[in-house]
Amino acid sequence: MTSEKVVVLAGGLSHERDVSLRSGRRAAQALRDVGHDVVELDVSSSLLARLEELGRPVVVPMLHGGAGEDGAIRQALELADVPFVGSTSTSARVAFDKAIATPRVAAAGFATPRQIALPDDMFRELGSPTLVAALGRRLGFPMMVKPARSGSALGCTKVERVEDLPAAMVQAYAYGGVAVVETFVTGTEVAVPVVDLGDGPVALPAVEIRPDSGVYDYTARYTAGATRFLAPAELDQDVADRCAELAVGAHRALGLRDLSRTDLIVDGAGTPVFLEANVAPGMTETSTMPLSMEAAGMDLGHVLSSLVSLARQRGAGA
Ligand SMILES: Nc1ncnc2c1ncn2[C@@H]1O[C@H](COP(=O)(O)OP(=O)(O)O)[C@@H](O)[C@H]1O
Ligand SMILES: [Mg+2]
Repeated sequence: MTSEKVVVLAGGLSHERDVSLRSGRRAAQALRDVGHDVVELDVSSSLLARLEELGRPVVVPMLHGGAGEDGAIRQALELADVPFVGSTSTSARVAFDKAIATPRVAAAGFATPRQIALPDDMFRELGSPTLVAALGRRLGFPMMVKPARSGSALGCTKVERVEDLPAAMVQAYAYGGVAVVETFVTGTEVAVPVVDLGDGPVALPAVEIRPDSGVYDYTARYTAGATRFLAPAELDQDVADRCAELAVGAHRALGLRDLSRTDLIVDGAGTPVFLEANVAPGMTETSTMPLSMEAAGMDLGHVLSSLVSLARQRGAGA
């Protein structure tokens, strides 16, 4: 038991504020259950002053989307000499941007969808039928259109026909200036958390995601009962091993620290295809990371507490 003070940072101004508050509550309770003195803070202009007042305790960022995962809040913590759990601002920035992360994971030798990134100004200027037709020819249908920098499947659309592509692009641009268009991977959706308790990154049990609606969208994610999760996933051992290899490989290729979660699809041939890596995995009642920990017989509070100790040892600004 420890009474060490810890700050759980949750809320923020992103589209995923509600989810973050739920993750924050769960993480804070788990840390309290193992004896930590937990202060829950939201992002505001008084945040850094408050952290200073509290004596710069270790921060556990539970912010999703936007500033929470794009490195911005981590940059501020680094600047303010506040130690925190999780990836540095630099690697968070890389992981959060699908137009950068996907090619990097592909370069490390893992399977990814074929992907084309298009900024909105370019699409608007050249958004001619020719460009749309070229995209269709290059990737084929169905394809997946996503904002390069967002989360919780917001702004993501599966596109079956060339005439639906422009509207899907506009939807993605509502969440940011760059959209990625990818080949659609058909198969079993799986999430694989990775935790590094000081001996190197280790994959936790894969969690299989079976949304009743067939689509793992925002509603399927955060409505109780809308999705069935199998932890551990029903995969052949060799496929499960390859999923674990991909998650650890992505964690390393993106330079991530402490914890991450890789989303992937096991395709018809049994190959795990990388979709994205998250530096601030959800911790809500319907999130895959806590389910995976449960399947592994690990306690969320103990895991977070170990990561807090590691962050304190590492010190501020690191
Ligand atoms: N290339 C793809 N092929 C098939 N489905 C995809 C593809 N990319 C994303 N998806 C689906 O969209 C969801 C959201 O995509 P993801 O890349 O995980 O972005 P985020 O979770 O950051 O919004 C995934 O959980 C998956 O169901
Ligand atoms: Mg995802």
